[in-house]
Amino acid sequence: MVIPANPEKSVSSHDSGMEWWKKTTVYQIYLRSFFDTNADGIGDIQGIIEKLDYLKDLGYETLWISPFTQSPQRDFGYDISDYHSISPQYGDMETFEKLVQEVHSRNMKLVFDLVLNHTSNEHSWFKESASSRNNPKADWYIWKDGKGRNGMTPPNNWRAMAGNRAWTYYPERRQFNYTAFLPFQPDLNYHNPEVKQTMFDVARFWLNKGVDGFRLDIISAIYEDPELCRNPASFRITPSDKSLTIFFQNLKNNFLQAKSFEFATELRSVIDEFDHPKRVLIGESHGNEELISQFCYSNGKNGLNAIFLFKAISMPFKAEKYREMLMTFEKHFPEPLIPTLVFANHDRTRIITRLGGSIEKAKLLALFQFTCRGIPFTYFGDEIGIPRVRIPLRQGKDAIAIQHKWVPQFLVDNSVEILNRDECRTPMLWNEKANAGFCTDSAEPWLPVAKNFKEINVEKQRGEPHSLLNFYKKVIHLRNETPALHQGSLEIAHDLCTKRILAYYRVYQAEKYMVMLNMSNSRAINPMKDVELLLSTHPQGEAHRLQPFEGRVMKLGSA
Ligand code: GLC
Repeated sequence: MVIPANPEKSVSSHDSGMEWWKKTTVYQIYLRSFFDTNADGIGDIQGIIEKLDYLKDLGYETLWISPFTQSPQRDFGYDISDYHSISPQYGDMETFEKLVQEVHSRNMKLVFDLVLNHTSNEHSWFKESASSRNNPKADWYIWKDGKGRNGMTPPNNWRAMAGNRAWTYYPERRQFNYTAFLPFQPDLNYHNPEVKQTMFDVARFWLNKGVDGFRLDIISAIYEDPELCRNPASFRITPSDKSLTIFFQNLKNNFLQAKSFEFATELRSVIDEFDHPKRVLIGESHGNEELISQFCYSNGKNGLNAIFLFKAISMPFKAEKYREMLMTFEKHFPEPLIPTLVFANHDRTRIITRLGGSIEKAKLLALFQFTCRGIPFTYFGDEIGIPRVRIPLRQGKDAIAIQHKWVPQFLVDNSVEILNRDECRTPMLWNEKANAGFCTDSAEPWLPVAKNFKEINVEKQRGEPHSLLNFYKKVIHLRNETPALHQGSLEIAHDLCTKRILAYYRVYQAEKYMVMLNMSNSRAINPMKDVELLLSTHPQGEAHRLQPFEGRVMKLGSA
């Protein structure tokens, strides 16, 4: 059992003692696809402002927005060309400041994606750096001589996370440039103290504007092995929670370096300069939980407040698997650390599609997500069950799709995982009007709207008491109102767990709750007697039997 010596200020048993971010719920807004207010078919910051009451009403506290600063938009904002100004397609600084204010006036929090690892190759820093070997920014990015007689062989075999080679040749410098992702996203060189300070100042700039923290994009890539050791081969094609692998290569030497964990502690001191209120850092990293928990705590120091855990995203919908996952999370993120509960994002397939279109399963998953110990993340639209919208690779706007357009379409059609990320980024479905209310009738949405929007949309589901949307609302409100569910400890009820049933307790002071999930398609006995039923996914169920895919939250007597 990995229990850090003294990470985080020890949590007191009183409600007020727990930091806000440990109790929060996060709603991820993919800005481009949320709500368009200026009829250009692209979501904007004003669109978020206009939908804040929707999110408040559902019970979410924290909003995480995808990048909105200046960018050529080749990776839709994850390729930044200016960290201090807003891309005009999303709005302007005044509107952003208004958003911060509107969020705070509702007692909500705002975090956004901070892309520290790389910039766009159109950033002026990179242009300068690439222009010669002796300009003032020559060492701001990672440049290496090639190998071979004429230096045209890449420095080593490293691949990038997006599957491409990690090195691109630049004739101006007669050198190779390194990227951890796509070739137009060159990695910044954090061995250079000037780069580090500049990027810490970028963080301070936004913290001074009042943002409550950041989701740290691809933080696993912030450092690479300075010796450039070769990466070993692997049998896997895609990354897993066990290793960071891509196209048969284990990215051991260009990701997850010991120095990256130290970096997390330095960044933590930057956000800790801002005290009222406390800010938060949530890192994005694949990899084994034991290893990546070091982002949160290493060498006796606090690092990131939480780390995005990818395990749940591809976890088979099986009680035993979920139990193992909970055990792993509890083992590597025991209090005062906290796991995250993530089932989808803007890079992965939609939840409802992964669950074979089953609303019953989607409700059960939401019940699990909002009643376990951890920070739950909802990707916009999953609360109404927006499906994966099939868009052929060749029509993809996503840079990963463009890079892989040679892959035969039938291979991606038969896979649950997406290669064209447009498929999970299609617009929000607000109502049954033209373009599902995402943009006006006359505008052309930047990606197609799901065809079944007349059946699946916010307005319709608001009016149906047993809709997925109303279930999300109920379970989030129950979580918010019940200290045990948002800050209690978690105990797995091993004696009640079976191949089909997952059961756990949440305990806070004298209060004890049981959550029981029937993750199978047959009925199951509910052995719990003398309990108060607080919420069920099947409101018409039977007291002593759980319906197929039914989940319940029950209140027990004193602990
Ligand atoms: C992260 C983001 C992804 C982006 C990539 C490069 O994985 O989630 O959308 O393309 O980093 O910044």
